[in-house]
Amino acid sequence: MRSLIDITDFSVDELWDLLHTACDISENPDKYAQKCSGKKLATLFFEPSTRTRLSFEAAMLELGGNVIGFSEASSSSAAKGESIADTAKIISCYADIMAMRHPKEGAPYVASLNATVPVINAGDGGHCHPTQTLADLLTIYRENGRLDNLTIGCCGDLKYGRTVHSLLAAMSRYSGIKVLLISPKELRLPGYIKHDVLEKYNMEYLETESLEDAIGSLDILYMTRIQQERFDSRDEYERLKDSYVLTTEKMRSAKDTMRVLHPLPRVNEISVKVDDDPRAAYFRQALNGKYMRMALILKLLENKEPSKKTNDEILVDENLLCDNPRCITSVEQELEHKFKVTDAAKGLCRCIYCETKKVFQI
Ligand code: NCD
Repeated sequence: MRSLIDITDFSVDELWDLLHTACDISENPDKYAQKCSGKKLATLFFEPSTRTRLSFEAAMLELGGNVIGFSEASSSSAAKGESIADTAKIISCYADIMAMRHPKEGAPYVASLNATVPVINAGDGGHCHPTQTLADLLTIYRENGRLDNLTIGCCGDLKYGRTVHSLLAAMSRYSGIKVLLISPKELRLPGYIKHDVLEKYNMEYLETESLEDAIGSLDILYMTRIQQERFDSRDEYERLKDSYVLTTEKMRSAKDTMRVLHPLPRVNEISVKVDDDPRAAYFRQALNGKYMRMALILKLLENKEPSKKTNDEILVDENLLCDNPRCITSVEQELEHKFKVTDAAKGLCRCIYCETKKVFQI
């Protein structure tokens, strides 16, 4: 049984298979209309969502399956204090597959360790969002005709924007990718992604605060919303919320072949006037998300192989605790704190749930 927690859980070949299946679904929907008949998807959304939840539900319905679930934590037993592990065990009794969105980083991973059916990470805190990346990859493939040799500008909240984190992890596996990281200083991409993704895979990247300077060189402009709900300080959000607004004037400096992507919802960062520009691909991207989620559900339900085991060295030490307040370990006291050793010589490791860096005594 396989789950999708991080986009790198799938190989490049598996991603190609998903892209091709999604294209075939969009061209021949009737062929797939009964593929999941008798199967149930549970959507467990502990955080707000429009596109992700409803596209998952539409995906399962268009495959002939059924959907159960909840769309807010207050209507589940989480409100009574039920753990993620117990929730995952219970849902495994009622559904064949589950998609979970949670404000705490690592929650879907904990679910996958306890479920007996596939678990899909539908977004965990500011950490990652692999199924949005599936939508992004199909959009880039359809709009730009390739997944390699692209200059991608990621603009906005690169600190908390989980969609950017997963997109960069996916793009690290294609050749000739250049990345422009366009953000205010306060919202720069977390160090662990710069080191473990961009630098590890020798991706060319540049950090800048200016969208105007960057836009002319881009094949893809990936706009993101400033993630209000993840800020500790309301004042800081107010100060940064309008850092970038993509307007028709700014679009004049962009290439004719550039495409604008956005996971949506947009707040203020793309003027509605840009919607009429044929280079604005974000609504097509939302539709692509449904096709990719259909392909994903099919793949996970058909796949009976066990999850791939990693060779990571795992460290458990009662004195070593994850201190990220957004980590699932911050609320689930029973959960054992565990760390993946990333550099034994320097004594560096990362929380297996949220990837926060820690230093241990060698
Ligand atoms: C994104 C998310 O939830 O991270 N939305 C989505 O799933 N399409 C982006 C966002 O909320 O800004």
